[in-house]
Amino acid sequence: MTKSRVAVLISGRGSNMLALLKAARQPAYPAEIALVLSNRPQAHGLELARSAGVTTCALDHTPYGGNREQFERAMQAAIERHSINLICLAGFMRLLTPWFVQQWDGRMLNIHPALLPAFKGINTHTRALAAGVKIHGATVHFVTAEMDSGPIVAQGAVAVREEDDAETLAARVLDVEHRIYPLSLQLVASGRVRMADGRCLVDGVTAPGAALIVPELRGKMSENR
Ligand code: GRF
Repeated sequence: MTKSRVAVLISGRGSNMLALLKAARQPAYPAEIALVLSNRPQAHGLELARSAGVTTCALDHTPYGGNREQFERAMQAAIERHSINLICLAGFMRLLTPWFVQQWDGRMLNIHPALLPAFKGINTHTRALAAGVKIHGATVHFVTAEMDSGPIVAQGAVAVREEDDAETLAARVLDVEHRIYPLSLQLVASGRVRMADGRCLVDGVTAPGAALIVPELRGKMSENR
């Protein structure tokens, strides 16, 4: 098996990056994390990646001022040096230009802390609580020019509890993030995800749920049947 070479792009904590790294340590996993790149040299995630023995690259965006594309060209060059096949954005806090998105069309994933298409953008947990939704979660999707809008690979859902605040809800969502990102990368890297009319279909699956993780509800739903 030829493994896909993955670059994980981060800006901060790096917990999703670690989840991907952990999954990729399994011999049968179809992808390897060949590079962790951060636009913030002080990102905690870079430290974690270094301690795990992964190749890292700190590429500070600030010297580029407002010139996003020039920064991205430097990033592209760094990524190309490592023969990367797929990019996983994992808390990468830079808006990407259409140029960069085009370079990685169909080969770049992002994780968003909400059940898209609900709650695009920032402060998703606070907004979900304010809206009174009963179910919330996270989404892994392909990156397209429009933010938080590309084809959905997998989702993870959690029940919203009445006593939740943004922090407690974020913590439970983060748990499902750490499950759906490795699952999504596995599906994509193994070539099982097919695009049809702007939607992702998972090959070889007839039962529903191959790209859905609902840890809290699983037991309760079957109780109600
Ligand atoms: C996650 O909540 C992810 O969904 C969002 O940014 C956060 C990154 O967290 N895009 P971490 O750096 O992976 O811990």
